[in-house]
Amino acid sequence: MASPNVSALFFDYISLQSFLIFGSLVFGNGKGWKYHRRTTLRALRNFGMGKRSLENKINEEARYLARSFEDESGRPFNPQPSVQNAVSNVICSISFGNRYEYDDPEFRSLLDYIKMFMSKLAVPSIVSKIPKLWVTPFYKSLKKQTDECISFLRGVVEHHKATFDSNDIRDIIDVHLQDNDDECGAEEKLPRSLIWRGIFDLFAAGTDTTSNAILWAMLVLTQYPHVQEKAQQEIDDLIGRERPPSLPDRLHLPYVDATLMEIQRFRPVGCFVPPRAASVDTELRGYTILKGTPVWVNLYAVLHSPKHWKDPEEFIPERFLSADGKRTETPEAFIPFGLGSRICIGEQLARMELFLFMTNLLQRFTFEFPKEDPKPNLAGELGITLSPGRFRICAVNR
Ligand code: HEM
Repeated sequence: MASPNVSALFFDYISLQSFLIFGSLVFGNGKGWKYHRRTTLRALRNFGMGKRSLENKINEEARYLARSFEDESGRPFNPQPSVQNAVSNVICSISFGNRYEYDDPEFRSLLDYIKMFMSKLAVPSIVSKIPKLWVTPFYKSLKKQTDECISFLRGVVEHHKATFDSNDIRDIIDVHLQDNDDECGAEEKLPRSLIWRGIFDLFAAGTDTTSNAILWAMLVLTQYPHVQEKAQQEIDDLIGRERPPSLPDRLHLPYVDATLMEIQRFRPVGCFVPPRAASVDTELRGYTILKGTPVWVNLYAVLHSPKHWKDPEEFIPERFLSADGKRTETPEAFIPFGLGSRICIGEQLARMELFLFMTNLLQRFTFEFPKEDPKPNLAGELGITLSPGRFRICAVNR
C-alpha cells in the first residue's frame, strides 16, 4: 500500500486544531495538557485500565456482541455498527457510567457521527485550506452533527454536576469534577466548562481506533484461514469454548497474541500521530528542526519499513514469536501506539479490549468472507484512522 497523503492530512489537522484545541487531550499542550493527561491516566487506571476489574465488563460486552452476531445466523452482514457500539460502551462506561443498547437511535447517530468525523477530517478537503468554510453551508451537516455531539456530552457533564457526590466517584467525569472548579484557568487545570472536551477525545479515540482494529482483525483472518484456525486451536486447548477468557491467559496464548500484534503492524489504525511541534531547536540526522516546526510521524512507514521487518507487506504472525514459539517478542520498531510523553493514553485499555473481544469471538465463531462479495480491499480507507471500510462477513457458529 502506498503511504497516505501526508500534506493533505497535515492541513486538515491544522484546521481541526483551530476548532478544537482548548481542553483537548489529543491536541492540547503545555501545563494544562500535562495536568489533564495525568488526571485522566490516573482515572483510567482507577476505573480498571490494565486490571482484572475491567475484565468482567469487557467480557460481558463481548457476550452482547456475540449475541448480535448469532442473530445473523451465519449470513453475510456488516459487522461495523455492532463492533463500534460494543467498543464504545467500554469507554463510555468508564468515562460517564453508561452503556447503550445496539439499537438505541440517539447513540447510533452519535456513533455514525464519530465515524464520519474520523473519516472526513483527513481526506483532502477545501475546509483544510479555508477554515472559515466550516461555518458555511458546505459543512452544515458535519457541523450540525458536531454540535449535537458536543451538546450530548455537555448534557452528560451537567447531569453529573447535578448528581455529584464527592463520596461516590462514579467515573472519569466525576474525577474531573472533584479535581477542578469553575474558576480555574485552562492554562493550569481543566475548567469544568471544558470537561466535555477531554471526554470527547476519549469517546472518539476510544471508539474509532479499537473498533477498527477489531474489524481489521476479523477481515484479515477471513483472508488467512490457517492463522484463524491455529489461533482457535490454541484458545480451545487452553480455555475451551465455555470459560470466558481472562487477562492472564494472554501469556499462555502466544500465537493469539502474536496474531493480534501482527494485525496492528499490518494495518495500523493510527497511521499518523496527531501533529506535534518541536519544543526546542533540534538537530536530527543532519536536519535542523526549528522550535515550533510541526512534526508529523508516519507510523505506517515505521511498521512497514524493510529496515525493521522482513517481508513487511506479508501477514506473518510468527514474526512476533520466540524461536520455540512459546512466547511473544516485541521488536523495537513495533510502536502502533506511538512513543514518548504523548504515547497513547489508552494503550493498555486497547490491548485488553483487542485480546478479550477477539478471544471471545474466536471461541464462538469462524469468520468467513461471503463468497458472493467482491474480494475485499485490504488497503483500507484513510481518515484520521485507517479503517477497513465497509465490508460484509459471515460469523459461522463453531
Ligand atoms: C488500537 C487502538 C489504539 C491505537 C492504535 C491508538 C493509537 C494512538 C496513537 C498512535 C496516538 C498518538 C501518540 C503520539 O502522539 O505519539 C494516540 C494518542 C491518544 N490516544 Fe490512542 N490508540 C488506540 C486506542 C485508544 C483508546 C482506547 C483510547 C481511550 C482511552 C485512546 C486515547 C488516546 C488519547 C487521548 C491520545 C492523545 C494522548 C496525548 O496526546 O497525550 N486511544 N493513540
